[in-house]
Amino acid sequence: MSSSGWILAVCLVVLEGGRYAVWAEEGSGSERNCSAIPPYLPPTAVNTTLRLRDLRASMIPLNISAYIIPATDAHLSEYIAPRDARLAWMSGFTGSAGTAVITQNKAVLWTDSRYWIQAERQMDCNWELQRDASVRSITNWLILEIPEGDQVGFDPFLFSVDIFDVYNTNLTPAGRILKSIPDNLVDKIWTDRPPLPPDNPTRLPDSVIERTWPTKVDQIRAQISDNPYKPTAVLLSALDETAWLFNLRGNDIPFNPFFYSYTLLSMDEIWLFVHTERMTEELKVYLNTSCYHSYCVQLLEYSSVRSYLQSYLQRSGVRVWVGTEYTNQALYELITPEDKLLTSTYSPVLTTKSVKDATEQRILKEAHVRDAVAVMQLLMWLEKKVPEGTENELTAAHFVDQCRSKQKNSRGPSFETISASGPNAALAHYSPSNETARKLSVSEMYLVDSGGQYLDGTTDITRTVHWGKPTDFQKEAYTRVLMGNIEISRTVFPAGTRGVNMEMLGRRALWEVGLNYGHGTGHGVGNYFGVHEWPVGFQSNNIPFQEGMFTSIEPGYYKENDFGIRIEDIAVTVPATTKYGNNYLTFETVSLVPYDRKLINTSLLSPEQLHWLNKYYETIRSVVGHELERQGLKEEYDWMMKHTAPFLTAGASAVISSVTLLVTVLPSVLLHNLL
Ligand SMILES: *[C@@H]1O[C@H](CO)[C@@H](O)[C@H](O)[C@H]1NC(C)=O
Ligand SMILES: *[C@@H]1O[C@H](CO)[C@@H](O)[C@H](O)[C@H]1NC(C)=O
Ligand SMILES: *[C@@H]1O[C@H](CO)[C@@H](O)[C@H](O)[C@H]1NC(C)=O
Ligand SMILES: *[C@@H]1O[C@H](CO)[C@@H](O)[C@H](O)[C@H]1NC(C)=O
Ligand SMILES: *[C@@H]1O[C@H](CO)[C@@H](O)[C@H](O)[C@H]1NC(C)=O
Ligand SMILES: *[C@@H]1O[C@H](CO)[C@@H](O)[C@H](O)[C@H]1NC(C)=O
Repeated sequence: MSSSGWILAVCLVVLEGGRYAVWAEEGSGSERNCSAIPPYLPPTAVNTTLRLRDLRASMIPLNISAYIIPATDAHLSEYIAPRDARLAWMSGFTGSAGTAVITQNKAVLWTDSRYWIQAERQMDCNWELQRDASVRSITNWLILEIPEGDQVGFDPFLFSVDIFDVYNTNLTPAGRILKSIPDNLVDKIWTDRPPLPPDNPTRLPDSVIERTWPTKVDQIRAQISDNPYKPTAVLLSALDETAWLFNLRGNDIPFNPFFYSYTLLSMDEIWLFVHTERMTEELKVYLNTSCYHSYCVQLLEYSSVRSYLQSYLQRSGVRVWVGTEYTNQALYELITPEDKLLTSTYSPVLTTKSVKDATEQRILKEAHVRDAVAVMQLLMWLEKKVPEGTENELTAAHFVDQCRSKQKNSRGPSFETISASGPNAALAHYSPSNETARKLSVSEMYLVDSGGQYLDGTTDITRTVHWGKPTDFQKEAYTRVLMGNIEISRTVFPAGTRGVNMEMLGRRALWEVGLNYGHGTGHGVGNYFGVHEWPVGFQSNNIPFQEGMFTSIEPGYYKENDFGIRIEDIAVTVPATTKYGNNYLTFETVSLVPYDRKLINTSLLSPEQLHWLNKYYETIRSVVGHELERQGLKEEYDWMMKHTAPFLTAGASAVISSVTLLVTVLPSVLLHNLL
């Protein structure tokens, strides 16, 4: 699901950092040159002349001067199916983030620095590239380009209520009018649009479920009836909301096991909007579709959601509750007059889903133990292979995917692996391709951020390693990133504390020496679900922490054109025993893979941090050690034991830190003499 905030934050780093690193090894001849005569187009560019002609023709009868094409789907998904890749088909540009605007004489793409060079390779000279990807930049362009009073068309299915608001707030005062066009104009001219993905939704096995779907329906209905604003129904628009409610999974979009769906849930009815031909007899029985009381699901065609919502709204006394971050404008705009509408940032399903039940907690932790085996296999293999000079970023990414696929309940990767060496890792979100894959070498740092889907859980972990001699600066930066990770992980806080109020703990050790990172510090994860599961995390729009929430903790540091460090673990909030208070929480780290010892300078760690680290390593030894034995992985077991040897404990480290103290208090003149 779209963790837009987190992704946006990542883009910040990218904007600041190493924009030339990704494609630098390739000659510039493969980018288009529209000022050459005739224009130079690389073989990777797509001729968009005819599609633009057709789209422009379809704009005229609608009386719109511009048409906006975002890169998302009707559920604001983080990953989209090929049939929703409208921006890519129109422009040729296949990057995951971007927005296009088409007028009668211009076609413009906005995307962030990760994708500028890719756009120059994939677009023909019909297209202009704008490098500031903010909504403000798009609306400013529209105001300059089209006259006051003119209309700007958009597909309301592809805008969240909140994003629409930003466009509207910028354009309306300038007298440019947004015109909602629910029939997508690209779809009308896209003759070879990919079909609906073929797989039917499936139900989760009972072994991974504690709450049946009627129990979940009860939980949400209780919140409807307790709400003082008296809503009569909840509308669910994000794909994970419906999948969660009914304990169903699907295969419509990459990486996330979701299926196209909406749900309208009232106190006594349940309407599920899906591609009904994909609902098997078994699912119909499971969902109780052939009855009409309050625990019977009425199956309705996916495409009828607008007309059905409209007919519901015609009833008297109804009020529909929607979460504005994940409801699309196409449904929201129907809910009039205002007394039929109740909004909150997140739907009650998203907030309820964020707290895992006991079964979900247990199996998600178990999935992380098997996942740790796969990641250790990668790290052990790289330690052997990299000195031979045979591996690159892509072969490493494939290797970890393969290791995961051998683990029980594996269902593929949970996102595209970030496998980045040297300067490529300075781009926080870089994934290798055939053109860019960098050879792995003992003289560079390497960052691998990867995760798996398992029937019982979703994982996401980042480790950064060096196989040769790291510099003192690399060691210090790595240690300070680790200190940030540990400081958040070991924090004790009152239940209900917001992540944003703890976030600086992850940055403090870096800030002390004037270092920082430009992305978010964590996000929720699901049970065989989204890997970036909103609304848990450390940003201002995340909800307060309660017991049973899982979040990533992932501080980092990126040095432009040189290296990147990120240390990411998943942790669950658990009760903490405190001397005086009740109802305090702390984190228990469930990702169980050792850090790179070579990069840790223990004399920077406080005794408490060192104690935490040693405890963590003890846990790895007992929990993953047991699993490695069970799987008969002797070599991996020895590797793990070597890498989790205890660090010098408090007494020994106290000696080191008092020596450090002594040196720092010496007058600098004396220090110079000593050196
Ligand atoms: C594009 O072509 C023009 C005209 O031939 C040339 O002057 C310019 O250097 C080229 N630009 C790039 C980036 O290759
Ligand atoms: C793109 O296609 C159009 C229409 O088929 C054709 O007229 C034009 O020459 C093509 N442009 C290029 C650069 O090949
Ligand atoms: C087209 O839109 C403009 C600007 O909103 C409006 O003035 C004009 O009347 C519209 N024309 C038609 C035919 O609807
Ligand atoms: C399905 O409906 C039947 C009767 O129509 C009811 O007895 C049963 O409890 C329902 N099943 C669920 C899971 O609610
Ligand atoms: C990358 O190269 C390999 C080997 O040449 C090839 O099999 C693979 O399809 C390529 N992948 C992409 C995404 O181009
Ligand atoms: C470890 O950190 C201490 C304190 O900053 C520093 O004096 C020492 O040189 C560092 N050691 C290494 C091996 O980098």
